[in-house]
Amino acid sequence: MARSLGLDVDVVPGDWRHGADPDAAAERLSADTGRTYKAVCVVHNETSTGVTSRVGEIRAAMDAAGHPALLLVDTISSLGSIDYRHDEWGVDVTVAGSQKGLMLPPGLSFNAVSDKALAAAQDARLPKSYWDWQPILEANARGFYPYTPATNLLYGLREALRMLDEEGLPQVFARHQRHAEATRAAVRGWGLEVLCLDDREHSGSLTAVLLPDDHDADEVRRIVLERYDMSLGAGLSKLATKIFRIGHLGHFNDLTLAGTLAGVQMGLVLAGVPIKTQGVEAALERLQS
Ligand SMILES: Cc1ncc(COP(=O)(O)O)c(C=O)c1O
Repeated sequence: MARSLGLDVDVVPGDWRHGADPDAAAERLSADTGRTYKAVCVVHNETSTGVTSRVGEIRAAMDAAGHPALLLVDTISSLGSIDYRHDEWGVDVTVAGSQKGLMLPPGLSFNAVSDKALAAAQDARLPKSYWDWQPILEANARGFYPYTPATNLLYGLREALRMLDEEGLPQVFARHQRHAEATRAAVRGWGLEVLCLDDREHSGSLTAVLLPDDHDADEVRRIVLERYDMSLGAGLSKLATKIFRIGHLGHFNDLTLAGTLAGVQMGLVLAGVPIKTQGVEAALERLQS
């Protein structure tokens, strides 16, 4: 996206099994003596791999390097599901959407913007219109929005926020962590591998499961969809056919997770993947404890 806007992008490569590396960020920023980097962009929860990056540590690395770049974070699949601290972690722009932890259809997007980012936007020369913050802020001050707002979604958002408030955010985050742990227990019970390799970075929103080399994850997904009417996430790009993803975010409880894992276990067996059938049992034990 940045390249298509004509920006110079320096991608820090990763192995897709770990989050964004704070040390690598510190190294690049320290080497940038001319202060040419304008922003560091990080995805908080990587939906395609089930890895959650340690955004607070990225901020600390930027501060340690004494670099003035803005920190921009995508929280599309973490906001309202995984603990996230825009102010405390010193994030400059947080981007979120309606379609995941907020339990709504797609269609709304949100920006949280620091004073530093607002000031940077004043001098920014890239063309912008719809997402120009200034007219939005001016209209918001009068209780309006400069364009046609998606009113139906805003009614839905009000209810979604009430639901999150009723449960309490710490409880919502704990519920997601607990379901993620039970899902990992299931994966281990099947004798399969979780894609994420760092215990500090397991996603609370979803779990990506790696299949043995000679088995096709899309075949498992196809069988689960046809037999049980349950849609699992696919592996993207270089992970295509190697992983499938189990989503456990949003309006989700112990029984929906148990049903989900039962469907996955039966699908794995039907697809001929050599698993131990102790996954569901291991997950139920974790949920009961
Ligand atoms: C981490 C992340 N970023 C961004 C998006 C949204 O991207 P797009 O609007 O291109 O589907 C998604 C998917 O909804 C996502 O999971």
